[in-house]
Amino acid sequence: MNHKAQEWFNPLGGCPETGRGVADDKRVAVLVSGHGSNLQALLDAAAAPGSGMAVVLVAADRPGAFGLERARRAGVDTAVVRPGDHPDRPAFDLALRDRVAAARPDVVCLAGFMRILGPAFVRAFPDRIVNTHPSLLPAFRGAHAVRDALAYGVKVTGCTVHLVDEQVDHGPVLFQAAVPVEPGDDEDRLHGRIKATEHRLLPLAVRLLAEGRVRVEGRRARIAEPEEVPR
Ligand code: GRF
Repeated sequence: MNHKAQEWFNPLGGCPETGRGVADDKRVAVLVSGHGSNLQALLDAAAAPGSGMAVVLVAADRPGAFGLERARRAGVDTAVVRPGDHPDRPAFDLALRDRVAAARPDVVCLAGFMRILGPAFVRAFPDRIVNTHPSLLPAFRGAHAVRDALAYGVKVTGCTVHLVDEQVDHGPVLFQAAVPVEPGDDEDRLHGRIKATEHRLLPLAVRLLAEGRVRVEGRRARIAEPEEVPR
């Protein structure tokens, strides 16, 4: 049984090592469309002792997303909100917003969620939605960032973890990491190395947001020192 599971089964005792209970943890909702390796990195980070965060919902836009299975295995609530079940994009957006809001998240994390979120969703969680994108933005926005970077012939690409605003792949940058393109790379191999960097940076960004340490000043996001955060 992992540490978080132990807390769960011992609700009166809280966490034996920290004395904290799950009620103190910041709540994270994650949206996925596919494989969910970034979700797994988040689940693992949240399960670490003293993480201060708990993944409370994993929502997908399609029932076959393997991320849903990862959530079930971790004992996390899941939801499927399908665009096809709604008359238009704004209606889908509202349904997704309401389902996510019902989970009362402190942070909303897009981990390979392949839909554009509309204004109703984004405005419901201001400066609390974080996304990871597999390029060094503003280069190679869109759904085929790794393929596009290879086709362009760049020598270096990477990943960008950023806050989500109402434009696509656009909000203030939290972290970027460069990943060199190697001879013989194909899309899968390069994407694999990019994902390895995302698996480090996305959980870190979620944790900093959960701790209230992200300050947004125009296009810039600054990480505040722990002492700057009011207790
Ligand atoms: C990640 O590379 C992310 O940047 C992009 O989609 C990929 C999702 O991978 N938006 P996974 O589903 O987390 O494995």
